[in-house]
Amino acid sequence: RPVLEKRRARSLGIVSFCKTGIGMSKHSSTPRPLTSGTGSGLHGVVRVPGDKSVSHRALMLGALALGETEIHGLLEGEDVLRTAAAMRLLGGETEKGADGIWRARGRGNGGLAEAADVLDLGNAGTGTRLLMGLVAAYPMTTFFTGDASLRSRPMARVSDPLSQMGASFVTRSKGRPPLAVIGTASPRPITYKLPVASAQVKSAILMAGLNTPGITTVIEPEATRDHTELMLRGFGIEVKVEETPEGRASSIKGHGELKGRKVVVPGDPSSAAFPIVAALILPGSDILIENVGLNPHRIGLIDTLIEMGASIDVKNARIEAGEKVGDLHVKHSHLKGVTVPAARAPSMIDEYPILSVAAAFAEGETKMLGLGELRVKESDRLGAMARGLAACGVSLDEGEDWLTVKGNGKRPKGGAHIAVNLDHRPAMSFLVLGLGAQMPVSIDDGSPIDTSFPGFVELMNGMGGTIAAVKA
Ligand code: S3P
Repeated sequence: RPVLEKRRARSLGIVSFCKTGIGMSKHSSTPRPLTSGTGSGLHGVVRVPGDKSVSHRALMLGALALGETEIHGLLEGEDVLRTAAAMRLLGGETEKGADGIWRARGRGNGGLAEAADVLDLGNAGTGTRLLMGLVAAYPMTTFFTGDASLRSRPMARVSDPLSQMGASFVTRSKGRPPLAVIGTASPRPITYKLPVASAQVKSAILMAGLNTPGITTVIEPEATRDHTELMLRGFGIEVKVEETPEGRASSIKGHGELKGRKVVVPGDPSSAAFPIVAALILPGSDILIENVGLNPHRIGLIDTLIEMGASIDVKNARIEAGEKVGDLHVKHSHLKGVTVPAARAPSMIDEYPILSVAAAFAEGETKMLGLGELRVKESDRLGAMARGLAACGVSLDEGEDWLTVKGNGKRPKGGAHIAVNLDHRPAMSFLVLGLGAQMPVSIDDGSPIDTSFPGFVELMNGMGGTIAAVKA
């Protein structure tokens, strides 16, 4: 039986196998505690893994499109591998070639097949929400589950608009997974104004609009990342984006055909954020991070750090496969506190944990506003950062949707052990804090880091970092 289960896990594309079987995420395996101690400056030229948002979308559209899609630089993090496995269950083909390039092939728009098993998306909110949209416009039922973190996340924000399009849902209380999407044979196009700024919700509706007749429109009061719109266009789908008095309106014309193409995935700016902040806070640092995605809706952190006095130079800016990319030259800098307006939140929503670490080393108060969405990420990131920073001796005030970090320009005390609640970004943030703090910082489990940044520890240590496994 274990052999059978192992084979099945492999066919699902699950990278690691744990005793509990394939229904369980990797995070339910033995925790991997890590510690980081005071390091010297970072030096070197590095590349971070591919962008998570772009990778999910490339696999979904590639495994749906007619003909072959080549994906260069795909993030091979656990979240994305779960999406690859889900697309295989829905009838698409996706696999990594011996040359390291991922290839996908589908049956064309409208060609998904009912999955013969539950889609287990592990820790991946993006994978779950976008796929819920994709399958909602098909006359079939699709079951979704994931790890404890995903099973606690709100999905009504996606099922509400998809219900208006004709799909129905069976969920746990408060719309949480496990859940079933009962898709519709006759989806209706809608015009939907987003109640929260969310690229995932926008993308779920656009994905449903693919197999819906007519024009489906999403209006967003605050513009969020537009990878879905850019990629749909690249696959040959008609997508119109216009500014309206109510916000940015993105419209998709349904029933177009998706044609296979080459996708080049840029390095993930949300992953680059960790070596960037580490270099800024560690005296003597001088690093170059090559090939970082610089989509204008993703660079709020870089803008904020520059306002704080960071030395970050963009070199070699270029467009690759429709996305802006560049190399970032980062040097140790004396940072000053700033106010980060709520309007900037959509362009740096995943970067507040590491920004709050930068703020802990800055001189003066850094006020971060409009953070309500952080409460419903892989964990309550606002609460997690406030608790962890306080445990490291950082003075701060926390509100329902804001955080003020009061830096004094000196190294925080550190010396705390932090529980990361299956959340990769606080995990990496506290390890970066430990590199610059007076005393080492440890986290209870480094394994969630693999969801978005496989090789994080090696990359940081390769530049001079001091992150190590905690000895039992
Ligand atoms: C993502 C959008 C963001 C972000 C997530 C990835 C995407 O979520 O936090 O990590 O790929 O569309 P929301 O859209 O819920 O803000």
